[in-house]
Amino acid sequence: MIRKLELTLAVLKPDILSKRYVKEEIKKIILKNNFYFIKSKTFKPTRDSMEKFYSMHKEKDFYPRLIDYMASAPISSYILARENAIVKWRELIGPTKHDKAIYEAPTSIRGRYGISDTRNAVHGSDSLESALTEIKFMFPEFHPEMWFKMEEPLFRKGQDILYDSELEVHYLNKSSHYMSTSIIRPSNQ
Ligand code: RTP
Ligand code: MG
Repeated sequence: MIRKLELTLAVLKPDILSKRYVKEEIKKIILKNNFYFIKSKTFKPTRDSMEKFYSMHKEKDFYPRLIDYMASAPISSYILARENAIVKWRELIGPTKHDKAIYEAPTSIRGRYGISDTRNAVHGSDSLESALTEIKFMFPEFHPEMWFKMEEPLFRKGQDILYDSELEVHYLNKSSHYMSTSIIRPSNQ
């Protein structure tokens, strides 16, 4: 029996969105590793929002470079669900440092698609606490407690889950779960 699902926040950073095939490859990796896309959003972040998102690094020398980069072009942000999602997504991402990623984890996402310490392809929450904070930051309209109550048990069962590749989101075929007639299609907001 699969354990309770966990939520994490994934972000595809700007240079990934400029290479369509790379974005598709990363999405394939996510799907192959049995993550569900619960929410999805592609947008160009403001400097202000990225300064807040990475505020824990405010004092680091790389902070201005990181903010310039993150606010330079659109990003894709996803709430992902899976058993052990936080650790599993961080494993797939690989090390933060470019050299370490290409030499020690060449098949990781950063090993394959990262191009420097800053332009390292993707973000992943590093703890339960940061996952919740980051999910709230990127998707203020999403309520994790409601999701865990209403949807997590159904996603955990793994039955009648549909995937909309255009909206980049999994959703429940509610007609089969609740015996109603409709499929509740997701929104990408
Ligand atoms: P992330 O938060 O993006 O998932 O990355 P992480 O946990 O692996 O690494 P973290 O230490 O939180 O750093 C956040 C992001 O800052 C950029 N960075 N640049 N020396 C540098 O130029 C440098 N070091 C870190 C990276 O984009 C890193 O992901
Ligand atoms: Mg981090």
